[in-house]
Amino acid sequence: MPSKLTIKDLHVSVGETPILRGVDLEMNQGEVHALMGPNGSGKSTLAYAIAGHPKYTVDGGSILLDGEDVLEMEPSDRARAGLFLAFQYPVTIPGVKVHDFLRHAISNVRNPDRKEGEELISMREFRKELRDRMSEQRIEPEFARRYLNDGFSGGEKKRMEILQLAMLKPKFAFLDETDSGLDTDAVNFVSESVRRLSTENEMGVLIITHHDRLLQYNVPSITHVMLGGRIVETGGAELAQELHTAGYEKIRERHPEAAVEQAEQEQVAGV
Ligand SMILES: Nc1ncnc2c1ncn2[C@@H]1O[C@H](COP(=O)(O)OP(=O)(O)OP(=O)(O)O)[C@@H](O)[C@H]1O
Ligand SMILES: [Mg+2]
Repeated sequence: MPSKLTIKDLHVSVGETPILRGVDLEMNQGEVHALMGPNGSGKSTLAYAIAGHPKYTVDGGSILLDGEDVLEMEPSDRARAGLFLAFQYPVTIPGVKVHDFLRHAISNVRNPDRKEGEELISMREFRKELRDRMSEQRIEPEFARRYLNDGFSGGEKKRMEILQLAMLKPKFAFLDETDSGLDTDAVNFVSESVRRLSTENEMGVLIITHHDRLLQYNVPSITHVMLGGRIVETGGAELAQELHTAGYEKIRERHPEAAVEQAEQEQVAGV
């Protein structure tokens, strides 16, 4: 049975500030969803809350993965359960090499009962897999020996996120502007990689993007629009198209209450 992720009436704040004001979202494994919305509407906040970032406090609502309460899980257990977030701004971890990071991550995800300090997946097996995936992603072999994201260019960081996706093969992937900062060739390449990985592995993918290239390759079955911390509209691929050409003015007009909250959030963010 394909897995199902169900988010109901999710409220999230950062510090004292409420950001998400009741988000409802349902995703099945194998579906491609697009999440769009103006700057500061809460898209990244939703992705962080799903991943379990400690700065984002859940004040109400629920996230269930096949009926299991995701909010009760530690971030590492969420990854083990098959959730993956590719960050809009990937973090640098000096001192941790790409190779070691991925070997740990994969050992934990593939062997959910593994305790810290227990055996990792075999070096030989891991090396081969990493080499194959890196060459598919056109990442130079020496990247495996570099510190994670340390001194990586913007484009290299994003490709690193795709490499993690290819290695971890989650059930649900949340790609937060994985296409931003990439040159045209790289966007095409990443878009095609996402398409291939998601179909081969029956992933559910939520693509957060302001551009349409990633969506041309990964035509969304469902498009959500966020405004002022709520998903105010859900439609098909044509909704994504409409937003690309017409912008968010009509959406603001149709949802005046959310538009007011959006304007407040934009003030905070200085958009
Ligand atoms: N860690 C944080 N500290 C302070 N404010 C935050 C934090 N994270 C989010 N916010 C605020 O929450 C609001 C929503 O931000 P969020 O990053 O989720 O927007 P977004 O929809 O991803 O925007 P963008 O399209 O610009 O990436 C903004 O007003 C932002 O300033
Ligand atoms: Mg964002």
